[in-house]
Amino acid sequence: MNSLWVVAAVLAFSFVWHRKSKAQAGPLPPGPTPVPILGNVRDLTAKELWLAATKWAKQFGDVVHVHIVGQGLVFLNSPEATMDLLDRKGSIYGDKPALVMAGELCGCETMVAFTRYGDESRRQRRLLNQAFGVQVIPSYHPLIATETHSFIQRLVADPSNYIDHTRRYAGGLTLSVIYGYEAVGNNDKFLSLGEECVDILSNKIASGGGIWPVDIFPSLKHLPTWAPGSGFLIKAAEWKAKMEEFVDQPYNFVKASLTAGTHVPSFCSMLLEDKEKCSPQFEFDLKHTANSMYSASMDTTITVFCHFLLAMVLHPEALAKAQKEVDSVVGPDRLPTFSDRPSLPFVEAIFSETLRWGVPVPLSLPHRLMEDDVYRGMFIPKGSLIFGNIWAITRDETLFPNASAFLPERYMEKVDPALAKKRDPRSYVFGFGRRRCPGVNLVESSVWLMITTVLATLNISKAKDDFGNPIEPKIDFNNAVFRIPDKFQCDIRPRSEQALKVLRQAEAARS
Ligand code: HEM
Repeated sequence: MNSLWVVAAVLAFSFVWHRKSKAQAGPLPPGPTPVPILGNVRDLTAKELWLAATKWAKQFGDVVHVHIVGQGLVFLNSPEATMDLLDRKGSIYGDKPALVMAGELCGCETMVAFTRYGDESRRQRRLLNQAFGVQVIPSYHPLIATETHSFIQRLVADPSNYIDHTRRYAGGLTLSVIYGYEAVGNNDKFLSLGEECVDILSNKIASGGGIWPVDIFPSLKHLPTWAPGSGFLIKAAEWKAKMEEFVDQPYNFVKASLTAGTHVPSFCSMLLEDKEKCSPQFEFDLKHTANSMYSASMDTTITVFCHFLLAMVLHPEALAKAQKEVDSVVGPDRLPTFSDRPSLPFVEAIFSETLRWGVPVPLSLPHRLMEDDVYRGMFIPKGSLIFGNIWAITRDETLFPNASAFLPERYMEKVDPALAKKRDPRSYVFGFGRRRCPGVNLVESSVWLMITTVLATLNISKAKDDFGNPIEPKIDFNNAVFRIPDKFQCDIRPRSEQALKVLRQAEAARS
């Protein structure tokens, strides 16, 4: 056990005693039995925590409570529980935890996903809505199409690096929209910085639920750096410096290009040109909100695209059916456009099933309860961290029969609108209530065009060994927050000479 947890355990006596002495309006939700003082520390896995959480859901029900040295964690495992609490009671479930490690020591407190509920988060959400509100998205369609066609060209040229190409696509799209910056190559400086920082965030800072001993005992932040167990302070200082570069560098790029008059119009440049508005607070909000949009766009899009690829590798029948549909609507002489969308119901079903089956962020991001609450007779204490367990919901057999199978046909059935909404993965995979993902409208367009254009132009299948035998993709998940499959082998190639020709024509039309 980490020596810092031992220090924490000693300090915990008084804390736990204090909490127990408070009056509770009912029992806590059920959950796995904690050990004295440390609670469920040993039950929390750094890898695929959603699997453990879903096992508890089967055992204890749709509201499960665990604690780490007194800090309550509540997992909501059904559409009803997430809807009742995170959506309907959003005004008390919309806060984010004041994590000392992630927020204060690593400098993430101003990132949108960590901002406390209140004026600052409302100002940030307004900016996000200005950038990615449903009404704004059509203005990005030409840029999305350009980026999609370049992405496909890169996949054709170098298929095995599909993850890097997807990062460049997603990061490049947001860098263009937000900062007017054009990424140069897969190793572009801002893309590399983004990759490094998102990895620090999800696999280091937020690993294992993101709770560090210092979050429970904030006074630990005053430990001298020579003291045993103070290693986290050194790591935090290193990560904070990186995070500051990540926030500042692309923003400084826009400001410098505005001053030089070389800027490409973007969300930031447009707002910065309005000098009247540019108070220090506005600039602060803009800089951090812009960074949050950029950082949130990469691993999420990579996760969805990798699951789409994997589904196509494992289900050639679904690929063939979708390609037939695209061919009949789009034909061989052009690439798909947004106006084709209403005529492609099976592609739509593939998109929905990819979101459900892939579950990009299986435990969403934690919310913090702002007041004591009682739900179905169970007491949920103020300060509890609330996880919407999207994995459990999207694997619920009553809602999605044969839930572990990739079955796009499940979305082709006509069902009444209430049931359709309940079975729509978009009701869950983008999170809940007042913190629901503000990138959802962009994803709806960008990922749709991405997968439709892949279906129109590429074939995807299992890779083959030297003897021509198919290689089963080996799948592993090592990211603590995003369900990104580690790179797997597959074969990606153009469907035909004609497909290559229309791709070249699209490129020529741009230049
Ligand atoms: C397929 C892609 C994506 C998925 C599945 C996804 C999913 C999520 C989820 C589950 C959350 C947590 C919501 C909660 O706390 O309840 C979230 C938050 C967020 N997402 Fe996304 N996201 C995606 C793409 C994007 C993109 C492209 C952007 C920006 C361009 C974005 C920006 C954000 C931001 C800023 C937050 C924090 C919101 C807040 O705390 O108020 N996301 N996303």
